[in-house]
Amino acid sequence: MLSYINGKYLPKEEITISPDDRGFLFADGLYEVIRSYDGRLFQFQEHMARLNYGARQLRFNVTEFDSLLDVAENLIDQNGLKEGDALIYIQVTRGVAPRLHKFPPAETPLTVYATPRPFTPRRDELENGIGVLFVPDVRWARCDIKQVGLLPNVLAHQRAVESGAAEAVFVRDGAITEGTHSNVFAVISGQVITPPRTNYILGGITRRVVLRLCKELNFPFAERALFEHEARRADELFIAGTTVEITPVVKVDDQEVGSGRPGILTRRLQEAFEKFKGKQR
Ligand code: PDD
Repeated sequence: MLSYINGKYLPKEEITISPDDRGFLFADGLYEVIRSYDGRLFQFQEHMARLNYGARQLRFNVTEFDSLLDVAENLIDQNGLKEGDALIYIQVTRGVAPRLHKFPPAETPLTVYATPRPFTPRRDELENGIGVLFVPDVRWARCDIKQVGLLPNVLAHQRAVESGAAEAVFVRDGAITEGTHSNVFAVISGQVITPPRTNYILGGITRRVVLRLCKELNFPFAERALFEHEARRADELFIAGTTVEITPVVKVDDQEVGSGRPGILTRRLQEAFEKFKGKQR
């Protein structure tokens, strides 16, 4: 795959990263995963706004990445990915410097990397739903920053996979926060509920689209604390994210959710999402 590194386009296998890169040494970096539908980049500006936010929070020396649109479009184009689904992965780190905790000199260039790949959606999971595992949320208190230090997410997701589930959902102080790479929604007595945007969750781009669709469909919804005990007894449960889109959750640990089949509101949101993505850039 032709990829992008620090202003150049190179085949991915020819790209090398310094062992002194702060992304490697300290996970001192940010990332985004952006979906492309038939060459149309989904919610690109929103992804860049989140990356810019992260760069301000980490006090990077560049905090504006909107020009990566050209790069992303080029990568889709040059790699023949204008048909079907693809993902663009973007990673930005604080650059290369001897290993010291303090920031490197202000003029140290950031490392900016972008690579695309074709993506096959899990139609079976979108159709039939998935099982999730509830796990304690042991992450730090700045989950609103999309940073590359994903070890708790990796360990939790691996636990889920080993137990036969498709995703792990974090629980902090008795309340659901989010999945390892998705946001979580419940339907309780006809109302769509998702945890509020705080420092304990990522403000998902898909989450925002789902809330917009709830509004358009006149579904009652609330951004409020979703307690674990409520989520376990919810009528419907689903996860939302760039890779999973809107995926119904039909099992939590060993217990069925609702009827054990994807719920009605979840289905209607999936249909609305299909229409929405057809219209959007
Ligand atoms: N993850 N919460 C977490 C912790 C995530 O890592 C993600 C996305 C989301 C959903 O955000 P969005 O709708 O913007 O994709 C929520 C990406 C896809 C990943 O790490 O692969």
